[in-house]
Amino acid sequence: MLEKNYLKLDTLFNKYQLSMDDRNYLLKVIEPIFCHDEFQKRMTNLFPHHSDITLGEHILEDTIVTYLLLKKKMKKKKHYQLDLAIKISMLHDLYTIPWQNNRVKPHHFFNKHGFTHPLEAVINAYCWFPELFSDISERKIIIDGILHHMFPLPVRRINYKKLELNNISLIKNIPFDIQKDIMLSSKRKRIGGLSFSRSIYKEGRIMSKADKRVSIRQIKNFRSFTALFTGKNKSIKNYKNY
Ligand SMILES: [Fe+2]
Ligand SMILES: [Fe+2]
Repeated sequence: MLEKNYLKLDTLFNKYQLSMDDRNYLLKVIEPIFCHDEFQKRMTNLFPHHSDITLGEHILEDTIVTYLLLKKKMKKKKHYQLDLAIKISMLHDLYTIPWQNNRVKPHHFFNKHGFTHPLEAVINAYCWFPELFSDISERKIIIDGILHHMFPLPVRRINYKKLELNNISLIKNIPFDIQKDIMLSSKRKRIGGLSFSRSIYKEGRIMSKADKRVSIRQIKNFRSFTALFTGKNKSIKNYKNY
């Protein structure tokens, strides 16, 4: 499977006409995440994300676009932590279960996938890649970028009543100081149980911009568009299987 997915990655590199240097640089940063079993699972049709695009392919395309946007900005002598932006992108949508055609429904509106998946992603990211959270200042940028990537859509606050997450039991595995960083980030510009903030770090903001650009292009048909609101998508082959 890994070999097949490297070919898919290569197809995306070709789509954006990346040079050999660009490919080598990106590979070096993304490989530890890309090769993980959980990421590989998201490269399969068990995780359809937009239209017929898998979650893994969506994330990889976001990552390439994030890289290209930042490279362009850096030519104007602006400073960015490129590696961190790439890591935010590779982690931003690592939610737990497929969001389309899923029979597991939250009880409260603000626990729907759109508001909660960045929280699930940040919890999974810590549990699967704890080494990325060892540097205090880097982890603050990563956490904030993941949590607020959906801006202007708000994200659910972690320490607010009636929180429902598909990986809520994993929170206890996260050290308290990292939990605290997640909590503080998720309550910035809060109204009730939601945070209406964009990332305070430029790396996260650029990644969020790349995510919008890629998602708009990947939603290819009406059913994939309405799925954003209904959670149901009859154009997905295994429509009734979840
Ligand atoms: Fe997302
Ligand atoms: Fe995304």
